Amino acid sequence: MPEKKPSRKPLISGNWKMHHNHFEAIQTVQKLGYRLDKEDYELVDVSVHPPFTDIRSVQTTLESDKIPILLGAQNCYFEEKGAFTGEVSPAFLAKLNVSLVIVGHSERRELFGETDEVVNKKVKAVLRFGMTPILCVGETLAEREAGGTDEKVLGQVKAGLAGLKADQVASMVIAYEPIWAIGTGKTATSEDAQAVCGSIRATVGDLFDDPTASAVRIQYGGSVKPANIAELMAQPDIDGALVGGASLDPDEFAKIVRYRLTA
Ligand code: 13P
Repeated sequence: MPEKKPSRKPLISGNWKMHHNHFEAIQTVQKLGYRLDKEDYELVDVSVHPPFTDIRSVQTTLESDKIPILLGAQNCYFEEKGAFTGEVSPAFLAKLNVSLVIVGHSERRELFGETDEVVNKKVKAVLRFGMTPILCVGETLAEREAGGTDEKVLGQVKAGLAGLKADQVASMVIAYEPIWAIGTGKTATSEDAQAVCGSIRATVGDLFDDPTASAVRIQYGGSVKPANIAELMAQPDIDGALVGGASLDPDEFAKIVRYRLTA
């Protein structure tokens, strides 16, 4: 049986998508820094994932103001360098002290054609450069209604983790983001989200072993708000959240990070 949840520190991540230029990004992390305190960071790991053009500005702001928010990216390429016009190297992100990289977000898969194979290569590249991948998985509404949630989601988990060692998987984050709940205001019920996150953990146990399944952190994403975060976080297999829209506003995002106060 997997260990009890308290062994996994919650991770609340803000995926800004293509929002906030670098001036707005600096203001947003500074405001967030004012709203969060030492106890918040002790209880929850917090990350922000700005657009690439903001990352250097956010890095210097976090470091100079000593704000212990983890710096994240939304994507990267799987090669270190070369003739790949327009792509961003994981080595460059590591050099900017990026610690977490979102890989295989549904928008990358659906709008930019990222396949499971590409996603797997990116997961490996992120690990190779000492960063933590947040591997995103999730089903469409049509897939859910056809009863295909597990097949889609667990298939993405298997493909995304192919060829990895157990200790690498144990260090990772998997984000379950049902596509129909992203930016729609619809959230999976906490029971439905728990059921899928529980299946993901069981699959990691089958592919690797129980200690790996107990260690991997699983986030839920899709219309997470201050009003629904506490209920989601109360679920045994939900260890955090990947927040889109509500992470753009420092007040909203700080309330999500401080979900324990609304529980
Ligand atoms: P929303 O929180 O805006 O639904 O976005 C979720 C998401 O895609 C985070 O990666």
